[in-house]
Amino acid sequence: MDKYYFSTMASRMRRSEIRELLKLTRQPGTISFGGGLPDPNIFPRKAVEEAAVRAIREQGNLALQYSPTEGEPFMKEEAAAFMTRLGDEISAEEIIVVSSSQQALDLLSKVFIDPGDAVIIERPSYVGALQSFRAFGAEFHGVDIDSEGIIPSALEEKILELRKADKKARFIYLIPDFQNPSGINLSIERRKQVIEIASRHNILIVEDSPYRELRFEGELLPSVRSLDKEGRVIQMKTFSKIFVPGFRIGWLSAPPEVLDKLVMSKQSTDLCTSAFVSMISGYLLKDGHIEKQIEISKEVYVKKCRTMLDALEKYMPELEGLSWSKPEGGMFLWVRLPEYMDTLEMIPDAVEAKVAYVIGSAFYTDGSGKNTMRLNYSYPSHEQIREGIKRLAGIVEKREAARSGAKD
Ligand SMILES: Cc1ncc(COP(=O)(O)O)c(C=O)c1O
Repeated sequence: MDKYYFSTMASRMRRSEIRELLKLTRQPGTISFGGGLPDPNIFPRKAVEEAAVRAIREQGNLALQYSPTEGEPFMKEEAAAFMTRLGDEISAEEIIVVSSSQQALDLLSKVFIDPGDAVIIERPSYVGALQSFRAFGAEFHGVDIDSEGIIPSALEEKILELRKADKKARFIYLIPDFQNPSGINLSIERRKQVIEIASRHNILIVEDSPYRELRFEGELLPSVRSLDKEGRVIQMKTFSKIFVPGFRIGWLSAPPEVLDKLVMSKQSTDLCTSAFVSMISGYLLKDGHIEKQIEISKEVYVKKCRTMLDALEKYMPELEGLSWSKPEGGMFLWVRLPEYMDTLEMIPDAVEAKVAYVIGSAFYTDGSGKNTMRLNYSYPSHEQIREGIKRLAGIVEKREAARSGAKD
């Protein structure tokens, strides 16, 4: 007899494959390219300490009280000013503070997804979003991306295909900047086309953009939200990648009717985001520390990215079908191995060699991407990057040798 009677939703929940695989590689000496973690050596501890003292001294008990579900007005004002400085004009009334983007994804799922509802996603897409949408019973409809991001013609075809089946997507989930996992940017032309298509078919767009500001080459692209004229875009921002993930803070902008529902949804989730962290964040935004941290992060990550690219060039064998992305920003590099290789099957070798990566198939909902992997370069040191890539290249060589041996 079953001891516990779980809800249908609980039965739909899955553990994140990334988190499960990363557990395997948490032994001492393992070099991890697995997580999407910022470099802790650049965390601005002094600035945080000063802002925390200020929050207590200047905000007093307000910093230690519950805050409105919509968020601390001070934080909202400063977040709006920050966005406006970055060219994404917005007012405090248009946003709510959330406990980081993962909460925003959960709230959006609660508000928009009933079991069986169609959601359009990029192929591949962020595993944490898929996890959240799946728990609420979403039916995934993936649209391919190429070097310029989601393919507009394929998107429209997908929408029409859904319409034929008498279905309509609840939203299109996009990660337009340094997409997780592929690192690809949605070109400006395509951003406009996606908005046009969404408008033609009256579908909402969810823009999840934690990495946008971490651009170390080329110009910052306008956000999808800033290009939209109809209030069709829900935009999510977070401190996690541009400042520190430990704050668990971010914000979300949406049309007023949607914000209202999201606020109700947040009330039953956690009442409000921490007032103390919100006040600290407000000071850090106001005093320009977030912009400073973005500059420091870019300087550090561009060098680490180059070290990884050089190491791949140096150590990886020359094989047909083996390629990797050349990031212009963000935290990830996407590696494609020959079709006959399977990065999941390579995990035991990786555990033995003490190197961790994320299997590409975790980012697909249809089992594809078996020959791909995501590598993070922001967290490991330069030395670890060189050594880790050497280990990874050894695994690829071993697989290739076993295959050639089997053919002989
Ligand atoms: C695309 C994307 N969205 C959302 C998140 C969640 O970030 P957080 O909850 O830390 O803000 C991540 C984290 O890796 C991400 O890559």
